[in-house]
Amino acid sequence: MSDLLAIIGGTGLTALATLQITRKEMVSTPYGEPSGPLTHGVLAGHDVVFLARHGYGHTIPPHQVNYRANLWALRHIGVERVIAVAAVGGITARMAPGLLVFPDQIVDYTYGRHHTLFEGDLSHVTHIDFTWPYDETLRQSLIEGARSAGIAAIESGTYAATQGPRLETAAEICRLERDGCDIVGMTGMPEAALARELGLAYACCAVVSNWAAGRGEGEITMEQIEQTLIGGMEQVRQLLGVVIPT
Ligand code: HPA
Repeated sequence: MSDLLAIIGGTGLTALATLQITRKEMVSTPYGEPSGPLTHGVLAGHDVVFLARHGYGHTIPPHQVNYRANLWALRHIGVERVIAVAAVGGITARMAPGLLVFPDQIVDYTYGRHHTLFEGDLSHVTHIDFTWPYDETLRQSLIEGARSAGIAAIESGTYAATQGPRLETAAEICRLERDGCDIVGMTGMPEAALARELGLAYACCAVVSNWAAGRGEGEITMEQIEQTLIGGMEQVRQLLGVVIPT
């Protein structure tokens, strides 16, 4: 069994400086083109594959990412585990900017995205179990990796997946909190569900880049988000260096 691991990089992680790149692979899929070529390389002594979710120049907005092509392409080349890195806003008080969060639940508020591979020419209708949307073994690897590296991380939480690309209103964030959500991002779905449909072990390493709308002072700016992500992604790089060898 190959046990090949992929990292999907989000905003702030369009490249992995610690990855020794060996080759780039273009994969065509029945669903169209992935966000870019799959980058093969060696990280912490292990073969990994990297894919920048928004494209290598960060040009694809969250609602236009071809999630089906990305996940299908990874599965096609033999990937079995996926660590999805994603910038999020912090809703609840403990989700402070700069922290890493390993969510264990999702609420999906997205719409109009191609969200399943199980449509079209079906021999039978398939409903995947999605009670626990993330792979617990991979999630535990992230948790243990952060503990052993002394990286401040929150070990559970509910991820609200919103449509974007605009940020939320303050009232929408109040509603997400009433729904039980802790963090908010725009790319968590349908990515997690498609991974499950393909039988991929998938876990999310979220980086809190800002207080969600109405939870901090003043306007949320891209500059502020990008600035916070610099430190956050440094922690992600450190964490991957610990988790990948396990
Ligand atoms: N809302 C939605 N997505 C995000 C945010 C946010 O506040 N920050 C980073 N991604």
